[in-house]
Amino acid sequence: MPIAVAETISALRTITADARATGSRIALVPTMGALHDGHLALVRRAAEMADLVIVSIFVNPLQFGPAEDLERYPRSLAEDLARLEPLGVQAVFAPTATEMYPTGASDTRVTAGRVGSLYEGHTRANHFDGVLTVVSKLLNIAQPDVVLFGQKDAQQVFLVKRMIVDLNLPVIAEVVQTVREDDGLALSSRNRFLDTNERRAARGLSLALEAAESSADRGLEAVLAAAQSVLMGEHFVELDYLTVVDPESFLPVDGTHRGRAVVLVAARVGTTRLIDNGAIYLTDNHS
Ligand code: PAF
Repeated sequence: MPIAVAETISALRTITADARATGSRIALVPTMGALHDGHLALVRRAAEMADLVIVSIFVNPLQFGPAEDLERYPRSLAEDLARLEPLGVQAVFAPTATEMYPTGASDTRVTAGRVGSLYEGHTRANHFDGVLTVVSKLLNIAQPDVVLFGQKDAQQVFLVKRMIVDLNLPVIAEVVQTVREDDGLALSSRNRFLDTNERRAARGLSLALEAAESSADRGLEAVLAAAQSVLMGEHFVELDYLTVVDPESFLPVDGTHRGRAVVLVAARVGTTRLIDNGAIYLTDNHS
């Protein structure tokens, strides 16, 4: 069956109402389009968990700052639909900005709080307020049983999960592992902007995470030093932040932290800003 493309909220609500009437379980995969294999992994997981899979494709102006790449952000609806067709996606929600924000940038926002102003939020002021606002709107519009996100955007995952708890939203968040190129580069819609030299340098982010992981048994300082030394060796890579956070609070850990932790890295590679993250385990066992 061809994918039903709903451009309006009411068109999508007709689709979801019909599905609900037959007892179907609904999954929502929110995206900004320019779909790559990372998105497709979310869709495949969604199809395992639900009867009706909805992919939303909306480049959300609210999460871009004035100096950011909103205009440059890739838009490729026809190609996106062609990639989704073989996966059994029944519906795509592709609203215009006016459909989503009929009065312009709405004044009502979900605020991401302190963690929302750190790391990505420090470089991109109000970014996560924009993300949480659009995600809560999409959840209200589609009312899915499950919503899926990629682990590559670890801070986004943390904040969305916390919003779901804090606002008692009746949805399960499912997180899918980062999909990587053969050399480790995390898939991202922005990778297409990298030229050959930048593409080669961009693997520095995942190499830094690997170095961090293999230094974890020597403690936090060794983790940071190992990752930094990889990144400093890459031309074209300008580090924005490298930090290790507690997955429970998403606040930076200090040298006394033991157990699971997440290494976050963001860097500008040429003019393209990339992020990545990896899990580590910090122990007492420093040699
Ligand atoms: O991760 C993204 O692509 C976006 O932040 C999201 C979740 C679709 C909200 O616009």
